[in-house]
Amino acid sequence: MCGIVGYVGSNLAYPVLIDGLKKLEYRGYDSAGVALHTGNSIEVYKKEGKVSALEGSVYGKNIQATIGIGHTRWATHGEPSDRNAHPHSSNSGNIAMIHNGIIENYAQLKSELLQKGYTFKSDTDSEVLVNFIEDIKINNECSLEEAVRIALKRVVGAYVILLLDKDLPDTIIAARKGSPLVIGIGENAHYLGSDASPMLAYTKEVVYINDYELAIVRPDELILKNLGNERITPFVQKLDIELAAIEKGGFDHFMLKEIFEQPQTIFDSLRGRMDAEHQSITLSGVDKIADKLLKANRIIIVACGTSWHAGLLAEYVIEELCRINVEVEYASEFRYRNPIITNQDVIIAISQSGETADTLVALENAKKQGATIFGLVNVVGSSIARISDAGAYTHAGPEIGVASTKAFTAQLAVLYLIALKVAQLKGTIEATLFNRLLADLAKVPEHVKEILDDQDAVIQDIARKYNDAKDFLYLGRGYNFPIALEGALKLKEVSYIHAEGYPAAEMKHGPIALVDEQLPVVFVATKDSYHEKIISNIQEIKARKGKVLAVVSQGDEVAAGMADDVMFVPQVHEIIAPILSVIPLQLLSYHIGINRGLDVDKPRNLAKSVTVE
Ligand code: F6R
Repeated sequence: MCGIVGYVGSNLAYPVLIDGLKKLEYRGYDSAGVALHTGNSIEVYKKEGKVSALEGSVYGKNIQATIGIGHTRWATHGEPSDRNAHPHSSNSGNIAMIHNGIIENYAQLKSELLQKGYTFKSDTDSEVLVNFIEDIKINNECSLEEAVRIALKRVVGAYVILLLDKDLPDTIIAARKGSPLVIGIGENAHYLGSDASPMLAYTKEVVYINDYELAIVRPDELILKNLGNERITPFVQKLDIELAAIEKGGFDHFMLKEIFEQPQTIFDSLRGRMDAEHQSITLSGVDKIADKLLKANRIIIVACGTSWHAGLLAEYVIEELCRINVEVEYASEFRYRNPIITNQDVIIAISQSGETADTLVALENAKKQGATIFGLVNVVGSSIARISDAGAYTHAGPEIGVASTKAFTAQLAVLYLIALKVAQLKGTIEATLFNRLLADLAKVPEHVKEILDDQDAVIQDIARKYNDAKDFLYLGRGYNFPIALEGALKLKEVSYIHAEGYPAAEMKHGPIALVDEQLPVVFVATKDSYHEKIISNIQEIKARKGKVLAVVSQGDEVAAGMADDVMFVPQVHEIIAPILSVIPLQLLSYHIGINRGLDVDKPRNLAKSVTVE
């Protein structure tokens, strides 16, 4: 994702940039950096870690510049490190650039530049782009603006770029395609940002830059052009919002905002993919490899973390509906053992970021062995999306909270569509069941809203009772077993309480030894074909004085009556139920984390995108 800021005016730039970067830090906290034009030269400061680490490293330096650009990074190409941090400088040191996005054809551009003798200090696509621009500027003897225009005509991918040129002590050149850019108009000053939050303290007059537009920004002048060098009149809008709203949409934390966004993000992930009568599904990625899917020996699902949990549920659903063997693999294990893969295998890779290193390498290996790769990815244009033979995007939007919530339910929504579509193509599903499942799926967004509206206050009360627990056990059976794993992971991540997810019946083979009156046991016990069995499991825990928290279907008085604390969800078909069961567990983790005073958006030791092994 990355956050970008820029300032050109009559005040000192550095404090404005640092303040802006702090506001945008939710977009990434792998590294941060600034470049400042001092009149004679461009000075670059960058540091791995949060913006505070950059501040520490710059502390005591007297930076007099009134123009500069800054970046907080969410690593895509290249691991988080000082050298991969932005800004990147061209080989001559005359141009400095920050970039948010991905340059898809960077490898091609890089090899051309290497042949011309360019060298690279970082692993980033961004450093390739700044040198590509410099090369054009030198060869064409043109202005930076012209060089950027020419370069962008060759660039494939998404970008917002901000550039400083040693020869232009009062100008920032900016351009966008596919990533956001806002320019704020101040008094003899302009502010640039990924969103309006860095400039709200200074101005409410902003211009939202559109794709394929290029801005030439000086203290007293904002010139907008298209890539054909024609001038465009900037459309100035007045912001009618306060800082808090633009930062977190009025929520205290991104995690909570994202939990509450789920009715919309699930809807967005389903939108346009099913017909109004719930009889057919449109997924061009599935059509593209339909031959392979229908003849597949087996489907291997490869993923990590929360995405792996989505994969585990998909195994249950695909085997049930499509009658195809499914294996679910942790990418980190799969890539290092010597799995037997043939060209009859289809791999489904699930990844929010599309950049998780283990998943990516596992796919590269499988591809070499002839497997067909289907990517289910949230970040458009990410590495996993690019390496896939076919795929489908989840439309969860940027997930900022490090603990995944809305990306998970978007993954489930699309996985249901994939399973149903393949089952229909294979003829392994009755029309009535297909119709029923699709109709239930279409109602999920409104059911999620109902849970959020009705249960949040209830769950806040429940959370208060268990803040100090040392351990939690999460139990589920069948379709709800992956949800028990996901509930436990979410709690660990944001509360630092040890939690284990287990198949409810398997609990008797070991974990039951943990049960005493101190242990909260969360049952995911919605009404399904295993219901009587899980009721017995609840009794087994009650008999040993464990505290039972249960997610149960509305109207299920039996399960509700047995639990110490109850979280209700609407009743839907058992195959669709897990996408609802997880919502109360996300809320429970959030509230416990908050009650324990923790930074739920940036839990210790975690990163949003794991681009290292
Ligand atoms: C947990 C979480 C992680 C990710 C995992 C895979 O809340 O976010 O477990 O699910 O790192 O990341 P992606 O999906 O980006 O490949």
